[in-house]
Amino acid sequence: MTTETEFEIFLATAPGLEEVLAEEVRGKGFRRPKPVPGGVVLRGGWPEVWRANLWIRGAGRVLARIATFHAVHLAQLDARARRVPWASLLRPDVPFRVEADCSASRIYHSGAAAERIETAIRETLGAPVSPEAPVLVRARIEHDLCTLSLDTSGEPLHKRGWKQAVNPAPMRETMASLFLRQCGYDGGEPVLDPMCGAGTFVIEAAEIAARLNPGRMRHFAFEQLATFDAEAWARMRAVQRARPPAARCHGSDRDPGAIAMSQANAARAGLTEETEFHQATISEIEPPEGGPGLVILNPPYGSRLGERAALLPLYRALGGVLLRRFAGWRVGLLASEPRLAHATGLPFLPPGPPVPHGGLRITLYRTGPLG
Ligand SMILES: C[S@@+](CC[C@H](N)C(=O)[O-])C[C@H]1O[C@@H](n2cnc3c(N)ncnc32)[C@H](O)[C@@H]1O
Repeated sequence: MTTETEFEIFLATAPGLEEVLAEEVRGKGFRRPKPVPGGVVLRGGWPEVWRANLWIRGAGRVLARIATFHAVHLAQLDARARRVPWASLLRPDVPFRVEADCSASRIYHSGAAAERIETAIRETLGAPVSPEAPVLVRARIEHDLCTLSLDTSGEPLHKRGWKQAVNPAPMRETMASLFLRQCGYDGGEPVLDPMCGAGTFVIEAAEIAARLNPGRMRHFAFEQLATFDAEAWARMRAVQRARPPAARCHGSDRDPGAIAMSQANAARAGLTEETEFHQATISEIEPPEGGPGLVILNPPYGSRLGERAALLPLYRALGGVLLRRFAGWRVGLLASEPRLAHATGLPFLPPGPPVPHGGLRITLYRTGPLG
């Protein structure tokens, strides 16, 4: 395998967000992305892998599928894993590790499968195995078919590199970007998150408005692979498409600690000018200038039944304020149950599928422009 070879590239996302991720990938010029359960597949080479990690906001990680073969017992797995051209993929001086998943297969012990593949790679390549290795080889054995992939991202891609301060229930940047997209946000209008927590929606929206690459501030596992071309990567990273944003992105929260966190996160992202945060309770919010635009938020969900009932007045108050003061604005509300969303009294469009998030299933409820 060389840097010119084409192979299957898998971009992972939460179930329920595959279609919207495919839309983003297509919009950014990748060829024929196809939504599949849990992600999007496309064909490409290493430059597409690097570009996907650098450009795509919605993917949780990018996997390069490097080999597929049948294996019905461990000795066969070992023999076939040894035929993969590891020296053209991995570096002998960089530690690696293997994770395996088995389902509906004669090889059913994931630990044993991972160990066999680790040994095969170590003996053919000479690279050390380490549980903390930056390079991860993933093996998926399904119906006796083994697919080997390299995790080219390393740290999950929602870690953009600017969020050090987090609140207890942070929204992942990757999901936030896809929810913004589902609300029709393209960077051309103001955004307000009136329960902004650590500022995820606001900073993500400001990056979209300023056309900043989501991966600009971090490193990736592909930098440690044998296929890495540092010069080509430097050229790719140097292409800046940044523009002055059409509108500012705003966040408020009743908690002064959340405002301090959001401001610190925005400063690390280099977006102090493009964002504005202030302390306010829901009953105090007003539409920011330059609207109408988009209000997007994930209010507290309440993990237990009693807690959820106690949240009904908050959702009612939120809906009341938006209906009274935000004529012409659209709303995107993430809620864990329909009862809470409908307590707002907002005129929601039919919702999309629920998405797993922090042990719950959350649904994006959207409105058209409020009357
Ligand atoms: C689930 S968190 C939002 C997380 C945020 N999207 C993020 O990614 O960090 C809910 C936020 O709502 C805020 N909040 C709760 N009640 C509020 C109220 N009445 N007015 C304003 N903010 C409120 C909390 O302080 C908390 O930061």
